[in-house]
Amino acid sequence: MQDHIADLVWRDGDVPVSTRFDDPYFSLEDGLAETRHVFFAGNDLPARFRDGFHIAELGFGTGLNLLATLAAWRAAEVDGRLQYTAFEAWPVAHEAMRRAQTRFAELAPVAAELAPFWQAGAVRINLPDLCFTLVTGDARQTLSHWDGSADAWFLDGFSPAKNPELWQPELMAEVARHTKVGGTAATYTAAGFVRRGLQAAGFGVTRQPGYGRKRHMTVAVKAAP
Ligand SMILES: C[S@@+](CC[C@H](N)C(=O)[O-])C[C@H]1O[C@@H](n2cnc3c(N)ncnc32)[C@H](O)[C@@H]1O
Repeated sequence: MQDHIADLVWRDGDVPVSTRFDDPYFSLEDGLAETRHVFFAGNDLPARFRDGFHIAELGFGTGLNLLATLAAWRAAEVDGRLQYTAFEAWPVAHEAMRRAQTRFAELAPVAAELAPFWQAGAVRINLPDLCFTLVTGDARQTLSHWDGSADAWFLDGFSPAKNPELWQPELMAEVARHTKVGGTAATYTAAGFVRRGLQAAGFGVTRQPGYGRKRHMTVAVKAAP
């Protein structure tokens, strides 16, 4: 067992569950619907898409959010390139990424297009409409060294109870430091310490109805200094 690769088991057929964190990578109900509800609607996408729009993600996992975003970008017929930077400490093996992605039939074309990159172990993907970077390592160390700035964040760690290190106030402060003024962040959780961390970091924070059985989720907007 390699220490830097994700260890997972499968539940309900094709939903990967982390053995390290004892938590699924995406909703057992409908991961794609959750992505759209939480990360797209929470960040007012695709309405804000424009050339160079930069999404950053904490917790790349299976790549579901990237695939869904690229498909939405293409459906919106935006001219130019989507920038997408994802942070991941334990990359998922490419075979497992592909297996997890097969659950979402409507993403099959983008999944097939990107599959050779995962197979090659790529951490950068440049397409005419996508500039993707995977930053490997613990985000608590890597984010502070990132020189980018996001328009929208997908905060997608495992549940704050099981993966508290990815939701700490210090990391939320780094998220804020790497967000454009007026930029946004969204997450499926409404955990109090996460909301307080985002607030302390300079975001205006609101609760919105959550996906599925979750009552609330969190949306944050970076205020002017
Ligand atoms: C819920 S999963 C992300 C699901 C993913 N967005 C997708 O589309 O499949 C959470 C991810 O956060 C990663 N993670 C947990 N702690 C981390 C840390 N300290 N630094 C970077 N990534 C971390 C896990 O390895 C896992 O891949």
